[in-house]
Amino acid sequence: MFRSLVPALAGLAALGLAGAASAQDVKIGLILPMTGPSSTTGIQQQAAAKLFMQLNGSTVAGKKVELIVKDDTGNADITKRLAQELVVNDKVNVLMGFGLTPLALAVAPIATQAKVPQVVTAAATAIITEQSPYIARTSFTLPQATVPMAEWAFKNGIKSVVTLVTDYGPGIDAEKAFAERFAKDGGKVIESLRTPLRAPDFAPFLQRVKDAKPDAVFVFVPSGFGATFMKQFAERELDKAGIKLIATGDVTDDDQLNAMGDAALGVINTHHYSAAHNSPENKAFVDAFKKANNGMRPNFMAVGAYDGMQLVYKALEKTKGNADGTALIDAMKGLSWTSVRGPVTIDPQTRDIIQDIYIRKVEKVDGELYNVEFAKIEQVKDPVKAAKAP
Ligand code: DHB
Repeated sequence: MFRSLVPALAGLAALGLAGAASAQDVKIGLILPMTGPSSTTGIQQQAAAKLFMQLNGSTVAGKKVELIVKDDTGNADITKRLAQELVVNDKVNVLMGFGLTPLALAVAPIATQAKVPQVVTAAATAIITEQSPYIARTSFTLPQATVPMAEWAFKNGIKSVVTLVTDYGPGIDAEKAFAERFAKDGGKVIESLRTPLRAPDFAPFLQRVKDAKPDAVFVFVPSGFGATFMKQFAERELDKAGIKLIATGDVTDDDQLNAMGDAALGVINTHHYSAAHNSPENKAFVDAFKKANNGMRPNFMAVGAYDGMQLVYKALEKTKGNADGTALIDAMKGLSWTSVRGPVTIDPQTRDIIQDIYIRKVEKVDGELYNVEFAKIEQVKDPVKAAKAP
């Protein structure tokens, strides 16, 4: 026992990442953009992680769980520094969060070197889980959410599309996944537009969509940017020009949907979570979340973090409280539970989440806007990795 531990610890010390938490505590370092342009992601995820502990207690398998929340402001250099400090100084057992793809990617080498599980609860570019064997993900992947949108569009008479996505990992994933599936069915993407991540002005892009006269525009923008997009979409009167809006559910995000007003009504979109999801688990979750957060409605980001906590708790139960990083990530593989979004499994091969994807339409329910689910594709794997599998 002693002999096998010594070289391992020496190796870690050489990397400046030595140490493990005390026998009693399990520490989770939750790194989120609590301020800056993606602050809604951080606010939703922190609220959900705290609610999970409030409802499930702070002890699991005899271990006391401690949550340490850090604000990276959405800057990857800060994310990386915080992750290093959490591993070296706080000796966390799990790194969690990561509101944007570049933030998740910045931490992957640290997870690998320190052998600390990195639970990605927000970022959604397909390649993320391939960057470290210590990464597991409880959010989704853009191709997973997008392929069902492309399929639905062609089946429902949409033959030509302009894609309009934010110009970085998840947007490019969405653009590619949409184009490939749509072309396979016989549809045509007539233009592919990309908007900058920082301070986007959608107006010139929307004008180009209008000029191209497609049957529909397919859109991805990250969580927190949907309201600005929808306002400019309505101002350009694309709907009056007969151009339908189809999207991933990131655009019609529950956090902002009500503020979007009637411009959002009727938008068809695909995603893994709606606050209107009709299950007893979800009703209880939405009620508790609103009660704990001054009426704030949980969005898909909240659910990613809630399930991130669920995953760590379930893994600790499986290891009987052993919080060793390798034991924990191994325990996470293949775990299944009933999420508030529906049934989920951590794919034992890819460590991505397998989940139902819903087709939804924005409707008014009791005076509020919701993504109302009307069809589902069951147990969808990330299609990019599924295509690569032997
Ligand atoms: C990512 C961020 C988001 O806010 C979102 O809705 C989807 C993906 C990302 O950066 O990976």
